[in-house]
Amino acid sequence: MVVRHPQRLPLLALGMLALLTGLWAGLARLGWDVPLPRSGFSSLHGPLMVSGFLGTLISLERAVALGKPWAYAAPLLTGIGSAGLIAGVPLAPAQWLIVAGSVGLVAIFGAIILRHPALYTFTMGGGAIVWAAGNLLWCIGWPLFLVVFWWMAFLLVTIAGERLELARLQQVTGAAQAMFLLLMGILLAGLIVLGWSFDTGVRIFGAGLAGLALWLGRHDIARRTVRQTGLTRFMAVCLLTGYAWLGISGLFAMWSGGVPAGPQYDAMLHAFFLGFVFAMIFAHAPVIFPAVLGARMLYRPLFYAHLLLLQATLVVRLAGDAAGWGVGRQVGGLLNAATLLLFLVNTVSALRSPPERPSIAARATS
Ligand code: HEM
Repeated sequence: MVVRHPQRLPLLALGMLALLTGLWAGLARLGWDVPLPRSGFSSLHGPLMVSGFLGTLISLERAVALGKPWAYAAPLLTGIGSAGLIAGVPLAPAQWLIVAGSVGLVAIFGAIILRHPALYTFTMGGGAIVWAAGNLLWCIGWPLFLVVFWWMAFLLVTIAGERLELARLQQVTGAAQAMFLLLMGILLAGLIVLGWSFDTGVRIFGAGLAGLALWLGRHDIARRTVRQTGLTRFMAVCLLTGYAWLGISGLFAMWSGGVPAGPQYDAMLHAFFLGFVFAMIFAHAPVIFPAVLGARMLYRPLFYAHLLLLQATLVVRLAGDAAGWGVGRQVGGLLNAATLLLFLVNTVSALRSPPERPSIAARATS
């Protein structure tokens, strides 16, 4: 297979390395007896998944969208930083590289906002600032159970911004925009408060998650496009299931409040990261991978396999969490990881050489 932009492959590879190593570390955190390079390695799970994998990929995608060579410094810095974490270099230099990469993403959004000053670009730029702030807090020694909410806000705000861009097609009214801003404010208030009162802050944050789930579910064009066929319908189904998990995560956070580890923490985080964030990735992968690589992607109904498995395995894991059923939690988590591998296999095997005519990615509307 030929790709038009092979020079972007090393950056993509750094993100994938973080994903695979982060999953491995996650299995160790879940209690599976997997071999690890050194003690304490499993604590890298969260940073590798969020800043190493998702941060690098989002920065790469935005660098491609901006089209300026300097912008590639952002994914390069986060990618090298997370490779450093894996290799076991002292923590601080690797963390600072990741902070620098996230500041790079803020700069990318600065340039994008200059071109298109609009609510959706300001929203996504705000997401990048929250990510950089979270990485900075991690650097100065805040515990991961606090930093993780900044990382969640980064992903949610970025995704909400992207969907807002498309929701313009749905003619979001002034009142709906005001509600969107109010919900963003609640999310931000939760972040600020949790530094002082962990429990109250998490509950406020959870209200923001649940509110945004309702808002996105109500205003996203996926509600219309789900009635279409093929890739467009697949994307819409992913998006709608993702919003349901986002709501569930918010309800968990409101119910459990500030919990620094254990089943409730696991359920709240992974309803968000797996149920919501990965559903968004499943939805956008058939568009983003071809755009980043300069390749074509064949849509196949087989894509529903990884989407359905994600739902089923997440239900098993969360049932294990909720019922104190350790085996269910462990097996569900292992199957979650297997589902993500299946997604990678399905995605890579659907890539084809660049088209001579406009690709499926260019034609997809949501
Ligand atoms: C697919 C398999 C996964 C497994 C087996 C797994 C496992 C775990 C476990 C056991 C914990 C600790 C929960 C506790 O304290 O009881 C955890 C925390 C966490 N996970 Fe995952 N996870 C997975 C997927 C993900 C994904 C896809 C993401 C992000 C995209 C993610 C991000 C995080 C973060 C940020 C934390 C909190 C970090 C910390 O407290 O150290 N996980 N994960």
